[in-house]
Amino acid sequence: MGKMWAGRTSGDTAKIADEFNSSIGIDSRMFKEDITGSIAHAEMLSFCNIISVKDKESIVNGLQEILADIESGKLKIDMNAEDIHMFVETVLTEKIGDTGKKLHTARSRNDQVALDLRMYLKNKNIEIQNNIKNLVNVITVLAEENIDAVMPGYTHLQRAQPILFSHQILSYAFMLLRDLERLKECYKRTDVSPIGACALAGTTYNTDRKFEAELLGFNSVSLNSIDSVSDRDFCVEILSDISLIMVHLSRFCEELILWSSSEFNFIKISDAYTTGSSIMPQKKNPDMAELVRGKTGRAFGNLITMLTILKGLPLAYNKDLQEDKETVFDSVDTVNKCLNIFASMLKDITVNKESMLNASKTGFINATDLADYLVKKGIPFRTAYKLCGNIIAYCIKNNTVLEDLPLKTYKEFSDKFEEDVFKAIDLKTCVENRISFGGTSKQSVIKQIEYIKKII
Ligand code: ARG
Repeated sequence: MGKMWAGRTSGDTAKIADEFNSSIGIDSRMFKEDITGSIAHAEMLSFCNIISVKDKESIVNGLQEILADIESGKLKIDMNAEDIHMFVETVLTEKIGDTGKKLHTARSRNDQVALDLRMYLKNKNIEIQNNIKNLVNVITVLAEENIDAVMPGYTHLQRAQPILFSHQILSYAFMLLRDLERLKECYKRTDVSPIGACALAGTTYNTDRKFEAELLGFNSVSLNSIDSVSDRDFCVEILSDISLIMVHLSRFCEELILWSSSEFNFIKISDAYTTGSSIMPQKKNPDMAELVRGKTGRAFGNLITMLTILKGLPLAYNKDLQEDKETVFDSVDTVNKCLNIFASMLKDITVNKESMLNASKTGFINATDLADYLVKKGIPFRTAYKLCGNIIAYCIKNNTVLEDLPLKTYKEFSDKFEEDVFKAIDLKTCVENRISFGGTSKQSVIKQIEYIKKII
């Protein structure tokens, strides 16, 4: 294919240079955005009397046919083309003749590619938001179904205090709600039209950028043409937002992997989301959760790649920027796949309440409650803390737990102990008494669920 930009140079580039330069393998997925953008551009050119209505109609019809043909599979995108912009313009010109050559008036590929990418990422941003909402929904339903299940809460991965399983998993819903907020913020800054900035300096034609932006559903128009073609902050932002979503998924995955091990046995991941081993017949591996955790690395890598591309880049457009798309495309694909598989897997887990409760009974996770019991009977917290430490040491030595210690023994440590101590250290009581705002009591969990439902 002859180069459209062959002018000063012959355009006879080396084959390996063409291959190296081409981005069609990556950017062909933006064909719809490119064609829609071009249709709006033709409309604007005609609206501003830069091209005739007749020419505009010929261009728009041609573009609409190209779009329909690509979508139906009738027209295959030529992988030897330089990029999607060149491909569409070439096909258009072949189709409608010289009129097609008028389309690129008052624009450049520099503003065109920025436009396409913003349009593409606006849609993807919404898709990620919807996938997040779906996952939050799954978490909320799981929390509701298991609202009373008691499990050990951990710090330092050591049993710490009894909590509700529902409270634990809802914490992930709140992380995801923050992710949602971040994506909405990112959307605002993506929703600015760069088209009409042209190569870098604007144009001598009397264009109407606002008209074109409105046709394409943009909220506003960028104010500085140099910034318009050089800015990829919106890419960094979505990559960063995705990285954090992946951090949240990865942490959740890590817990599911731990909880599904024989050592914990808190949950069972459905066979539909596990695999076997080729050698060990007993194995059931949580591959999906591991893969989501593993793919988090890709998301971080893409963010660093994008930041590094931008660092030290002089204004305005430089070909380095062509590398931007691979990072964002890979990250949006990855996060959407991960959100979907994770939600499906989570929906299907079995919660082993018995096992969680049994784990809560060992490890003295009601020790804080025992100390609080004494505090309520007038003993200063530090003194109570020390006393309870001694009681626990006694239990460990005598191979028993706080629940099974006779009142007589308790009284040897402090005469403040009465029969009601057993109620106070009962695991259910421990959870129910955590009534502070945002605590693990059922009442608080119900409030959280109501809040989430209102938002989603
Ligand atoms: N394929 C290019 C990209 O993805 C399009 C812009 C090319 N602009 C240019 N001045 N060569 O960035």
